[in-house]
Amino acid sequence: MIDLRSDTVTKPTPGMLATMLAAPVGDDVYGEDPTVTELEQRVAELLGHEAGLFCVSGSLANVLGIGLLVQPGQEVICDVAAHIARAEMGAHAAVHGVTMRTYPSVQGRLDADQVAAIMSPPASPFLVATGAVSVENTHNFGGGTVQSLDQLKAVSELCRDHGIRRHLDGARVWNAHIASGVDLATYGGLFDIVTVAFSKGLGAPIGSVLVSTKDNVAQARVMRKRLGGGWRQAGILAAAAIYALDHHLERLADDHAAARAFATAVVERAPSAVDLESVETNIVVLYTGQVAAAGIARAAADQGILISALGPHMVRAVTHLDVTEADCSRAGQVIGDLLRDADSRALR
Ligand SMILES: Cc1ncc(COP(=O)(O)O)c(C=O)c1O
Repeated sequence: MIDLRSDTVTKPTPGMLATMLAAPVGDDVYGEDPTVTELEQRVAELLGHEAGLFCVSGSLANVLGIGLLVQPGQEVICDVAAHIARAEMGAHAAVHGVTMRTYPSVQGRLDADQVAAIMSPPASPFLVATGAVSVENTHNFGGGTVQSLDQLKAVSELCRDHGIRRHLDGARVWNAHIASGVDLATYGGLFDIVTVAFSKGLGAPIGSVLVSTKDNVAQARVMRKRLGGGWRQAGILAAAAIYALDHHLERLADDHAAARAFATAVVERAPSAVDLESVETNIVVLYTGQVAAAGIARAAADQGILISALGPHMVRAVTHLDVTEADCSRAGQVIGDLLRDADSRALR
């Protein structure tokens, strides 16, 4: 099988496992795990923030982040395909009483004008106040889109001018950094809270970190415990994340090349499935035209290629550490053939 459903499917490498086994650990609820502390400090520094908090998942880190920035009864603004809106199971409403207002986006691209058009600074007693704007970089369901630095700066300034806080869902900000060359601290400095993941392109089995001010992180630590997310000898997992930073960050460029190889093979057979220019990192979103996405995903699985159906006519392939560029090219040929053949049947 060539598994391109997500970059979360990778298994820890032998080197990563050896590092995990050798990690010094302690009880992290007592603040005594040296490996967790090392990871938290390192990630905070990389992103230009004061402190960090290691969490079991990106979803938990986002829930803590939004809960700190947005009061119950306020809203967070994000785009219509944001992970926090589509895939976090309503946690922000269920846990914090926070509503979401979304703006339409093309490939998840941030647009400061759209944010400005719907935001509602906390002044009026008649309207739900916007507590925060949340941005995703890279954008998952948009197809690994790297946000423009100009738009990020514009939104950051807009929020600052209106007393609205800023959240970056940077689960794949590593990919954005490698693709754009923009410094991690430059991305991080534009936001009040940033969350990053190690269990995606970086190839660790588990873990995300939230970074912010010392005070915000202290509050997030309490909220994490309240939600059952306090953990003990978590250094065994933090060690995997540290290993990933040391060994798997620069190689994300290989995943980006593999995604291009995949998309190129598709486009040679089914030109309207994807715009090659839109393939910026490790995620390729394909449009299946007349054909049901689930049918394409099933037919691909029959030929040993796993991809995700994300909508009625949209499938996603994600490249990662456990597939080669040649695998991805072959997968693109298979899926391109399926799309071309299915399309010509649909037209007949
Ligand atoms: C952009 C983005 N944010 C957050 C998450 C949540 O991460 P987790 O699966 O660790 O909860 C994901 C997961 O795929 C994601 O793609």
